[in-house]
Amino acid sequence: MNLLVAALGILFSVMVLGIALYLLTARRYQSSDSVAHSYDEWTEDGILEFYWGEHIHLGHYGSPPQHKDFLKAKEDFVHEMVRWGGLDQRPPGTTVLDVGCGIGGSSRILARNYGFAVTGITISPQQVKRAQELTPEGLTVQFQVDDAMALSFPDASFDVVWSIEAGPHMPDKAVFARELMRVLKPGGVLVVADWNQRDDRQKPLNFWEKPVMRQLLDQWSHPAFASIEGFAECLEATGFVEGNVITTDWTDPTLPSWLDTIWQGIIRPQGWMKYGVSGFIKSVREVPTILLMRLAFGSGLCRFGMFRAIRTTVLPSAKLIATARNQEHQVL
Ligand SMILES: C[S@@+](CC[C@H](N)C(=O)[O-])C[C@H]1O[C@@H](n2cnc3c(N)ncnc32)[C@H](O)[C@@H]1O
Repeated sequence: MNLLVAALGILFSVMVLGIALYLLTARRYQSSDSVAHSYDEWTEDGILEFYWGEHIHLGHYGSPPQHKDFLKAKEDFVHEMVRWGGLDQRPPGTTVLDVGCGIGGSSRILARNYGFAVTGITISPQQVKRAQELTPEGLTVQFQVDDAMALSFPDASFDVVWSIEAGPHMPDKAVFARELMRVLKPGGVLVVADWNQRDDRQKPLNFWEKPVMRQLLDQWSHPAFASIEGFAECLEATGFVEGNVITTDWTDPTLPSWLDTIWQGIIRPQGWMKYGVSGFIKSVREVPTILLMRLAFGSGLCRFGMFRAIRTTVLPSAKLIATARNQEHQVL
C-alpha cells in the first residue's frame, strides 16, 4: 500500500514538473525576431526535418481521408493546392512568391513539376541556408530572408503569391493581407493555406477553449490566429481584390496529420535518438501541443482555411473612387 502511494506520489510530481516545464519553456511570440530564432533552432537541430521532411505543413489525406504515407500526404497537399488555386492552368515561367517558404519544399515542387520561376522568402536565415542546400542546380528557385509584414518587392511583381501556414506568425493580419495583394500583378492570383480559429465574433471561445488557444499561440511563436471569415475580410479590405475572396475549409483532409506526427516519432525513433537525451526531451515536449492542435482542429475551435483571390486590374484608389461614385449615383 505504502509502495503504491509512493509510486502515485512520484507519478504526480513528475506530471506537475512536466506541465510546469512545458508552460515555462513556451516559445512565446515577441517579435519577428523570436519567430526567426525559433525556426533557426528547429532548422539547426534537424529533428523537424527528419520527421516532416522538406515540408513544414500538414498533409492532404483526401476527402474522405484515407491512410497515406506521412511524407507523401505533404507532397499531395502541394498538388491539391495547385489544383484548387487553378495554378495548373498557368504556363511554365509563371513567377511565384512563396511567402514563409520554410526550407523550400513547396517552392521546389512548384518549380520542378510546374516549371514556375519561384522566389521563396522566410524570416529565418537558417531556413534560407538549408533551402539553398536542398535545391539542385538548374531549378528555377531562389530563396532570401524577407519579412512578410514589409516585403522588399515593388508593387505588382509576381503572377502568383502562395503561402502555407505562415499567417499565424503575423502580428497584424490586415498588414499581412495588404502585403500579399500588393506584390501581385493585376490579374494575378493569391493562394493561401492557413491555420485559423473559429470566428469568435459569431461564437466566443468557451472556458476550456481559451486556455487551449493560449497554448497553441504561446508554444509555437504565434501572436494570433485569424478566422477564415476575418482574413477574407482583411484581403477584401485591401481594395486589391477582384470580386470576392473564395474560401474553403480543409480541416477534414488535413486532420490525420496531427496523430500521424506522433506515430512517426514512435515508429521512427532514430530521429530523436540520434540527438540523445536532449533530442528525446525536445521531441516529447512537442507532444502536448500536437495533441492540443488535434483537439482544437477536431472540435471546431480551429479550422484549416484555404483562400483564393484575384488581383484587380483596376488600381485600388481608382476602384475605391469608382465604388464611392456608384454609391453617390445610387443615393442620387
Ligand atoms: C509553419 S512554417 C511553413 C513553412 C512552409 N510554408 C512549408 O509549408 O513548408 C511557417 C513559415 O513562416 C515563416 N515566417 C514566419 N513569420 C514570417 C515573417 N514575418 N516573414 C516571413 N516569413 C515568416 C517561418 O520562417 C516559416 O518558414
